[in-house]
Amino acid sequence: MDCFYESANEDSILITLFTKAEFDELTNSSLDSVTTWILSSNRSIQPGNHYLVPDNEGKLNQVVVIVDDNLSLWSIAELPFSLPSGNYFLADTISVEDREKLTIGWGLGSYQFSKYKKTKESARLSFASDIDQETVLAIINSTQIVRDLINEPANEMMPEHLSEATQKMAAKFNASFTEIVGDNLIKDNYPLIHAVGRASENQPRLIKLEWGNPEHPLLCVAGKGVCFDSGGLDIKSAAGMRWMKKDMGGAAHALGLANYIMQTNLPVHLQVAIPAVENAISNNAYRPGDVIVARSGKSVEIDNTDAEGRLVLADAISELCDLKPDLLIDYATLTGAARVALGTEVGVFFSELDKTSHGLYSSAKASEDDIWRLPLHQGYKHQLKSNIADLVNCASSGYGGAITAALFLQSFVSENCDWVHFDVMAYNMRSRAGRPKGGEAMGLRSVCNYLEKRYGANK
Ligand code: BES
Ligand code: MN
Ligand code: ZN
Repeated sequence: MDCFYESANEDSILITLFTKAEFDELTNSSLDSVTTWILSSNRSIQPGNHYLVPDNEGKLNQVVVIVDDNLSLWSIAELPFSLPSGNYFLADTISVEDREKLTIGWGLGSYQFSKYKKTKESARLSFASDIDQETVLAIINSTQIVRDLINEPANEMMPEHLSEATQKMAAKFNASFTEIVGDNLIKDNYPLIHAVGRASENQPRLIKLEWGNPEHPLLCVAGKGVCFDSGGLDIKSAAGMRWMKKDMGGAAHALGLANYIMQTNLPVHLQVAIPAVENAISNNAYRPGDVIVARSGKSVEIDNTDAEGRLVLADAISELCDLKPDLLIDYATLTGAARVALGTEVGVFFSELDKTSHGLYSSAKASEDDIWRLPLHQGYKHQLKSNIADLVNCASSGYGGAITAALFLQSFVSENCDWVHFDVMAYNMRSRAGRPKGGEAMGLRSVCNYLEKRYGANK
């Protein structure tokens, strides 16, 4: 990775961290050339600021960063593009755990989507040998995979491209890849995936990747792969459609997570299923009012063709449940309502099990990944009743839309399945330290951390 180099030498530039209190204490006791320089810059001393300190010849010698009392993953994540290019290293007085998370932040902060535009050179950080290099790299790589897939415009990220990306990943890790394309979805009984995707000249498909030892616990992962969501016949407004290239964000998360699991060799048996479609408009598009019998046998009345994600996921989830997974996780950019509830920067998750949810919460905290649980409130289930079918795809009231969408999915999940559903934005609408505008992994680091706890060999 361009943002790292092997080992620091005498030309490398030191990065030191101080909390505001530490810095104040330092300046109160005695002033050395470094503190004198920083004070003479006449900038306030506050977390997030950094100061370039020269040596006697005026050459950059040290970077001082003021950090929060609880050191954050993002403390130095802005530096790769704000420091002069060159080689840097973290002071070895910083603990291994702290350097680990700072290195992750640095890696995430040096991300750029460079395919269509000339990009900047980032500064480089020494990739220390005493940190857990494998995990750190896996987090950075997996996040990059998620971001790249989402940032790619829809004209280059149709179902066939998602399929190619999955095939490449499968080849890299010796995983098996299969897919069911176009009319074969009817033959093999994935009626909902076919119905949503059939109007596009980019054929719908169910993409599958399997990896690992079948003796290990079965972990199933599904991701909504709507490569562009026009809304279908219930067409979206221009503003509503503008960012819908990201509607395959769930699929990107599923692939990012798969990459993490395989790269860290987690002892699980992994099964990934990605229903990949374009929700397009044509003479053969599925319509409001149509009734489609799902893979599970349940009949679904289409109330709104823009509630397409839950349809394609339903068939994928039914199949995965038949495999009796130890844990089933799905990621989806499922509802605008989730954004209304929590805003764009906090991912929503649902789970019936407190144990799983609490495990996820502590992992979310440890990995500084902002997610929040919403209830699978059964009292809203009546909103999915249909006069002529088992259920409708869109609730009758406009309220609690993220919940009713999750309840729709739940009706395709087996009774005792440990199931976690993520409804995420998958996109940064603004830039923050380490999180540039554009495609983003949300709820990925939490799950990686959680899976380490749940399945990881004692490293
Ligand atoms: N892909 C959208 C949801 C979405 C919109 C996610 C904006 C993130 C940002 C989804 O397919 C959709 O259109 N949902 C509808 C559901 C409605 C028709 C019940 C929505 O949220 O408006
Ligand atoms: Mn939609
Ligand atoms: Zn959608």
